[in-house]
Amino acid sequence: MSQVYLDGKFLPPEQARVSVFDRGFIFGDGVYEVIPVFGGRLFRLPHHLARLDASLAAIRLRNPHTVQEWNSIFKYLMAEHGTGDQSIYLQITRGVAPRDHAFPPNPVPTVFAYAQPLKYPLTEQLTQGVTAVTATDIRWQRCDIKAIALLANALLRQQAIEQGAVEAILVRDGMVTEGAASNLFVVSGDRLFTPPKGPYILPGITRDLVVEIARANNFACEEKQVGIEALRTADEVWLTSSTKEILPITRIDGHPVGTGKPGSMHARIFALYKEYKQAFIQGRVE
Ligand code: PDD
Repeated sequence: MSQVYLDGKFLPPEQARVSVFDRGFIFGDGVYEVIPVFGGRLFRLPHHLARLDASLAAIRLRNPHTVQEWNSIFKYLMAEHGTGDQSIYLQITRGVAPRDHAFPPNPVPTVFAYAQPLKYPLTEQLTQGVTAVTATDIRWQRCDIKAIALLANALLRQQAIEQGAVEAILVRDGMVTEGAASNLFVVSGDRLFTPPKGPYILPGITRDLVVEIARANNFACEEKQVGIEALRTADEVWLTSSTKEILPITRIDGHPVGTGKPGSMHARIFALYKEYKQAFIQGRVE
């Protein structure tokens, strides 16, 4: 990565400096987005920008840039990496102010963004599936905000890694919410289930696309609470995110999911997802 964007300038990362009094550093007071770029095009950009607006509104910060401004920032960052698939990370904090929990009267947001090559799951992870563990969802009650304060998510992910798993499946009051950095789908017979939107999950852009693709192809797909028992007896479990796409989970807490191999529903929906992505790259869908 040779250039990052910081507050109106493009500069080498080692020259990008943020004050130690930035509220992002002091309080984790900010929001972020991760936007995948396929074939040089920003995938589901309007959806990501709409979620960014929702996150900013929730923390009472105005969006510092117009859509056009964002687009020109992204274009510049993307050009650094040629045509390979990449992801854009952006974050906006409430800026620099003397340390005080209450908001400063006229905050000047700090805006940071960079692009990097997209690291896909390994082929083996897709063909064999990955391992997950369940963990108590210790996060707050506004998980719908894509907040940069990710301490709970980091602790939960680390807990999973230390148990040899790639993701923690979070459970709140007996109900599955999502992964530490992903959404969750459960397959039972020929039906798909994913927990409903609300304060306990991030409204994932990949999640919404999977629901859209499944329904457009006449698969039964319900946004419905998933209990821990339903997770344990599921035929298939998948996690979704912009960077992991649709990844099958084949072991949870040491027990096989279904047959212990990625299932046929995953193969069908993932094929449809890849078709959609190809159509997007070729400019046939927006
Ligand atoms: N994380 N839930 C959580 C808690 C997440 O952090 C993410 C994404 C998702 C999936 O959302 P999407 O499909 O829009 O990527 C769900 C990003 C990739 C991250 O923090 O790096």
